Amino acid sequence: MKFFIDTAEIDEIRDLAATGMVDGVTTNPSLIAKSGRNILEVTREICDIVPGPVSAEVTATEAAAMIEEGRFLAKLAPNIAVKVPLTWDGLRACKTLSDDGHMVNVTLCFSANQALLAAKAGATFISPFLGRLDDINLDGMELIADIRQIYDNYDFKTQILAASIRTANHVAEAAKIGADVATIPPAVLRKLADHPLTDKGLAAFLADWAKTGQSILS
Ligand code: E4P
Repeated sequence: MKFFIDTAEIDEIRDLAATGMVDGVTTNPSLIAKSGRNILEVTREICDIVPGPVSAEVTATEAAAMIEEGRFLAKLAPNIAVKVPLTWDGLRACKTLSDDGHMVNVTLCFSANQALLAAKAGATFISPFLGRLDDINLDGMELIADIRQIYDNYDFKTQILAASIRTANHVAEAAKIGADVATIPPAVLRKLADHPLTDKGLAAFLADWAKTGQSILS
């Protein structure tokens, strides 16, 4: 499973990229607003840090304007994935931008039929939003499973990018089902390494080690 990080915070991206865990980045208008940065500047910077796909979202709502914005964003760096919303205009823009040869991430997916449309429009990534479905008591994981089955039935190459991840369990469950990518907020990504038995075991090892009076490097 590939890991993308879901943020526009440069310090977080730099720090986590150094762990080798970051295969890409996703941003959206809310994350750009939160960063307080100019979208073009911050997106270029992210693309310089992470060589994998960096999603930058269009803000137009009509296909022609989305295509214009998408082509402009794609010129920022070769690793831009243009993000478009799952509307009919977004699907038309997806088809044109994919035909141009750009990576396209179709976002705000909440149903299996929407995912089917995105694949038929040539999307590189489909982003089903797990957390937002869970928020309204629907099963985000069931959606990932349905999309996996449909894409496998028809051999669609569109990658399932599990989004709106809120917990470490979301990541493991999406991986079990076979999502190709998870886009993870930095705080959740850091939690993936946590286990109380790891902490307890390490504390015991270090306490025993201290009793030996030894040091490995001297
Ligand atoms: C994905 O690309 C989106 O940016 C993101 O995962 C949305 O997450 P949220 O529901 O926590 O805002």
